[in-house]
Amino acid sequence: MTTLQITPLHPSLGAEIAGVDLSKPIDGSTRKALSDALGEHLALVFRNQSLTPAQYLAAASVFGPPMEQHYSQHHMPGFPLIGMIWHRNGQEPAERWHTDHTNRERPPAATILYGVEIPSAGGGTSVASMRAAYNALPDAERRRLDGLTTFNTLDHDKTDTRQEDRDKYDKPIEHPMVRTHPVHGSRAVYFHITKATHISGMTPEASKAYMGELIDRMIRPEITYHHAWRKGDVLVIDDRATMHRAHGDYDRSESRILWRIIVEGDRPRFA
Ligand SMILES: [Fe+2]
Repeated sequence: MTTLQITPLHPSLGAEIAGVDLSKPIDGSTRKALSDALGEHLALVFRNQSLTPAQYLAAASVFGPPMEQHYSQHHMPGFPLIGMIWHRNGQEPAERWHTDHTNRERPPAATILYGVEIPSAGGGTSVASMRAAYNALPDAERRRLDGLTTFNTLDHDKTDTRQEDRDKYDKPIEHPMVRTHPVHGSRAVYFHITKATHISGMTPEASKAYMGELIDRMIRPEITYHHAWRKGDVLVIDDRATMHRAHGDYDRSESRILWRIIVEGDRPRFA
């Protein structure tokens, strides 16, 4: 059995994992330990990895079955389960706080990013613990959120979404705003401000205002891990209990390429 070393990176979330080569097959007990570590720490960092697309897909499956991403124009040629994050592909960094693919009935358990080309400065990824955010809310607001749901579609402000993706992934999907983690058992605030058209019982305008105000109020440095990329890093983000954002503060004449895999999770539930 592999000996994992788990070193926390921030008081609230994030841990560096040493002792695993993700290019090699991973045994059952290590898979269980990594899945538990993700539920506990919510963001896992593996340094100095060297992966082919096929090895990367095999490693990602530790956290769930890789699932199709809905911006198919950015799929890696020959490997449609890997998305290419690259501004030279016409993608702007996702700088607003969000969790991924909430327009799916079973949204991803995790988003996995592999740093292939990294700019010399900036271009980091921040991850916030929405478990800690939930725990810090006043009782009355927690109770209010416990009873609310959102209705989610594809982002409608993107102009390059393919019709075939719209046909598959643009139907409204309802999710609780507070989600119980299937591995860890804790609760976290769960929504996507641009994919949620509205909150149950609220107008779209009031819903957006409330979600924006929640993000501003809840996401503080005390609950945020900032990942400064090094080439060869693999960052695993638990989408069930965090929000993340990219930082576009890098020189666009430099390249920043991340390979993204999302892995299927459970249907969100509040318990
Ligand atoms: Fe994202």
